Amino acid sequence: MAFKITEKVTWVGKIDWGLRKFHGNEYSAYKGSSYNSYLIRDEKTVLIDTVWLPFAKEFVDELKKEIDLKEIDYIIINHGEIDHSGALPELMRYIPDTPIYCTANAVKSIKGHYHQDWNFVTVKTGDVLDIGESKLTFIEARMLHWPDTMFTYMSGDNILFSNDGFGQHLAADPLYNDAVDQAELFYECMKYYANILTPFSNFVTKKIEEVLSFNLPLDMICPSHGVIWRKDPTQIVNKYMEWADGYQENQITIIYDTMWNGTRRMAEYIGEGIREADKDVTIKLFNAAETDKNNLLVEVFKSKAILVGSPTINKGITFSIMGILEMIRGLSFKNKKGAAFGTYGWSGESPKLIEEELSRAGFEIIIDPLKELWYPDEDALLRCKEFGRNFVEKIK
Ligand code: FEO
Repeated sequence: MAFKITEKVTWVGKIDWGLRKFHGNEYSAYKGSSYNSYLIRDEKTVLIDTVWLPFAKEFVDELKKEIDLKEIDYIIINHGEIDHSGALPELMRYIPDTPIYCTANAVKSIKGHYHQDWNFVTVKTGDVLDIGESKLTFIEARMLHWPDTMFTYMSGDNILFSNDGFGQHLAADPLYNDAVDQAELFYECMKYYANILTPFSNFVTKKIEEVLSFNLPLDMICPSHGVIWRKDPTQIVNKYMEWADGYQENQITIIYDTMWNGTRRMAEYIGEGIREADKDVTIKLFNAAETDKNNLLVEVFKSKAILVGSPTINKGITFSIMGILEMIRGLSFKNKKGAAFGTYGWSGESPKLIEEELSRAGFEIIIDPLKELWYPDEDALLRCKEFGRNFVEKIK
């Protein structure tokens, strides 16, 4: 499958309808994804990025139907991760001397993965490749999301090839932003940002400001995953600026795990206390052990505050709560508040341990943790309500 985007540019990637897990098991992808590769035909012929390794052979077979591989003058690899560079070894078997344009860091990552000394041409921000009527300008985009990442801008057609930036894991046909369900699209964009780009938000803001300062005309953004932004492409740029700036909605999320329903009852009554004190805030409760971790992180991303609860087990925290706390820590959320709670039978360490983890993750702890013995009785449930009320008051 290939389709023309403009007179000069053809999409030659792979739509992966069956993808459900990405980055090993670190990212759920319930809507599939795509690995977008682009072929530019000007006076020179250029291939931008390839596809994920399992699709390498079929990618090259399909590309051969589109073009004689020997006609490809240059390959551009915007980012060395396997989902974009994975077909290079197969492709380079046919055209081993073709120059590969990429950043110096990408030479390291590509060599690190494939252990091949191909004909690399290193580029940096502002370097230009003249391909005829159009020019390709390279813009390093370090830490978006690897040190090797760069964007490529094509003049004439005014396209920004942004690789992972502005992408999302969404399989679609047609693969255009205006041709898909908008709620589905923006949920997947937010999930992608929350789970992958949040730690690099400072880089996102700076890079977007830098690119905007070039005053380049922009007709399309062509990322390496998901839809091509052909209708109002700056809308996703504006969203990124919003998301990168300590994003939060008027939402409090209560994340818990439970063994005999005691911590669940605490969570529910804390929620009731929050509602008593604030009629408008969105409250959401999730059992971490039963909830997709990446979708849960979207809820954390949207929240101004979270409460995390676990029963004490073996002087510690349950597996699911420890796991989600570790993911929360890694994402370096900014400008969020938190507190901890949980039931116990004898030793009761979990709320304090959760508080320490939240603190380590950069959350402002606004109230001391609440722990309740065994299954909470009516008095304990009233304390949970009060805890919820006090939590909201501290946010205000
Ligand atoms: Fe889509 Fe960082 O690879």
